[in-house]
Amino acid sequence: MNGPDVKAMGKVAVLMGGKSAEREVSLMSGAGVLKALQSKGVDAHAFDPSERDLVELKRKGFQRCFIALHGRFGEDGTVQGALELLGIPYTGSGVLASAMSIDKVMTKRAWITEGIPTPRYAVLRKDGYDAARLAKVVEELGLPLIVKPAREGSSIGLCKVRAASEMEAAVAAAAALDRDVLCEQFVAGEEVTCPVLGTGDSARALPVIRIVAPEGNYDYQNKYFTDDTKYLVPCGLPEGEEAAIQELVVNAYRVLGCRGWGRVDVMIDAATRKPYLLEINTSPGMTGHSLVPMSARAAGISYEDLCLQLLAEAALDQPEDAQA
Ligand SMILES: Nc1ncnc2c1ncn2[C@@H]1O[C@H](COP(=O)(O)OP(=O)(O)O)[C@@H](O)[C@H]1O
Ligand SMILES: [Mg+2]
Repeated sequence: MNGPDVKAMGKVAVLMGGKSAEREVSLMSGAGVLKALQSKGVDAHAFDPSERDLVELKRKGFQRCFIALHGRFGEDGTVQGALELLGIPYTGSGVLASAMSIDKVMTKRAWITEGIPTPRYAVLRKDGYDAARLAKVVEELGLPLIVKPAREGSSIGLCKVRAASEMEAAVAAAAALDRDVLCEQFVAGEEVTCPVLGTGDSARALPVIRIVAPEGNYDYQNKYFTDDTKYLVPCGLPEGEEAAIQELVVNAYRVLGCRGWGRVDVMIDAATRKPYLLEINTSPGMTGHSLVPMSARAAGISYEDLCLQLLAEAALDQPEDAQA
């Protein structure tokens, strides 16, 4: 099979770093992507939007961008919008899908409308709740429950609330990071994540990865800085469950109109074996520890080929030739 025409891709910027809370991870992702693309002969260069104005991309003749930014100002539709205006095709989802997906509340609303299972929830507005409202949320969702900011990643500001007395501090911590605080029913069971590649009808799921964290504590530290968490691929789920999750995840991706790639986090209720979708990441990690490359490898796609394939599918919501 012939690979993508590397020369035709022209000068490529790997956007990395940025100013979100996930800057550190993004720099690791970007370094990996840059090296992989260069090893394939792509004329790729690092570009940190927190240090340089995006307008420079046009002036310096960049023809395509690989977005290796995570979180706000990178994964949330803002950089995508800027690149739309500059007319430079970029990897991954477009403006609307990125903006919807970064917001866990909007994502859940879209999924619920389309019958995709996600844990029961309540939204609190920063400065818009009191003790009575907190008590009501605890009553509705039961304990334990999960509190998280609507638009952070990497478990930042996320808290498992085990007693009603812990609610106030948990909500205040999340509200310090976002005006919307998502309170969610806790799903006790197995955690899996499933990448999706492609767009629309051609979108397909990669192998499911099962995540086994020490004491079931899958937090920021375990995710990036220790080797204690086990990632199982093949995931070893009972027959049929993996295929059902893959089908669900592709559907969830299409509902949001995602493009290029994404990764959906899922909890499987231990009692009912029912999967609940937590969130979708539209610019997933690409570090040495990261899950999309791990799953791709299990499907026979090397890290380098994955990067090249994503770059080859770079696109615009509004292609320039369609613009008036
Ligand atoms: N409702 C929930 N029930 C059980 N565990 C949860 C729930 N929400 C989050 N978690 C745990 O917290 C982790 C991070 O939550 P997630 O919603 O994926 O946000 P992010 O990865 O953006 O921080 C999940 O991978 C899971 O381990
Ligand atoms: Mg997650």
